[in-house]
Amino acid sequence: MQRARITGTGGFLPETVWTNAKLESIMDTSDEWIRKRTGIGQRHLAAAGEGSSDMGTPAARDALAHAGVAPEEVDLIICCTTMPDYLFPATACLIQDRIGARNAGAFDVNAACSGFVCGLASANAYIRSGVYRTVVVVGAESQTNRLNWEKRDTAVLFGDGAGAVVLQAEDGDRGILSTFLGSDGSGGDLLIIPAGGSKAPVTKENAGGPECDIQMKGAELFKQATALFEEASTKALELAGLSLEDVDVFVPHQANARIIGAAAKRLGLPDEKVVMNIERVANTTSASIPLALHEAVAGGRVTEGDTVLLASFGAGLTWGAAVIRW
Ligand code: ACO
Repeated sequence: MQRARITGTGGFLPETVWTNAKLESIMDTSDEWIRKRTGIGQRHLAAAGEGSSDMGTPAARDALAHAGVAPEEVDLIICCTTMPDYLFPATACLIQDRIGARNAGAFDVNAACSGFVCGLASANAYIRSGVYRTVVVVGAESQTNRLNWEKRDTAVLFGDGAGAVVLQAEDGDRGILSTFLGSDGSGGDLLIIPAGGSKAPVTKENAGGPECDIQMKGAELFKQATALFEEASTKALELAGLSLEDVDVFVPHQANARIIGAAAKRLGLPDEKVVMNIERVANTTSASIPLALHEAVAGGRVTEGDTVLLASFGAGLTWGAAVIRW
């Protein structure tokens, strides 16, 4: 059976950067509070009208260039996002058009911060079953335009950006060894934007109100996240027939430096194996893992033969992990 190997990675960050000092000037917060609680120092912000497809498109192009794959060779584009440009059409279709992938199918995946791992698991299944040979998975989030900058508990946490990978069918030992996905919808209210969907559309009455903002129970999420990072990671390693000692590089979802630190500690993974870019980019939701992976690859932290563990946790609740032989 053929494996799905990541043959190219790409990333994109919008130009505007807001440091914690900038946030201090517009809300009652401090650089010290944000750094101590989250590890975040700055975040990139989309321009007005810059949607997730505007970030996913250059990230996908970058990944294709690194893979040496022409857009016409792509069989499928999966865009993982919680902030699609529109309710429909899918953001994946917008990216498909702009990169010129005229032979590709395209659809979106929404599993919040676990979106990219879900997209990767889908791409892996398509390639291993022989349905497709070349799949692009994009994580793209333009989310700060929708943040309420008066809600300091959530506004300080998020940033915009995109990451992408090209997966190709290949014989041999390299590629995705296993994936694991979990969910628990009973925890849906821990992180939710209640209005804007079919159940509670935005109306004249609720527009601009709290229902249209992110509602987050931060402390409960924190507790669940550390335990579920561990569960997802150990299950994916078990499925790959590997153990934690085999992991060379750990690329976790960048939600919070303290969550990552606690999860790495539970897993017994030393700091030098853990990839963290949250200080520079904050929580970019579905984009966080592919962006961190791209930076780790570009920076030479991931080399051929390495065992790479990806792990995520997010709204839904959703969690997941993937083990890759690079
Ligand atoms: N600046 C200054 N003070 C703040 C801010 C802020 N930005 N936000 C909240 N505070 C205040 C609160 O009002 C509270 O004040 P009080 O004690 O006078 O009432 C105090 O700080 C402590 O607030 P807590 O919410 O208890 O702070 P906590 O230590 O739990 O940290 C945090 C909050 C950082 C959100 C933490 O709970 C967390 O990281 N949770 C995980 C949530 C997360 O990562 N969400 C992202 C999406 S989910 C995901 O990606 C996995």
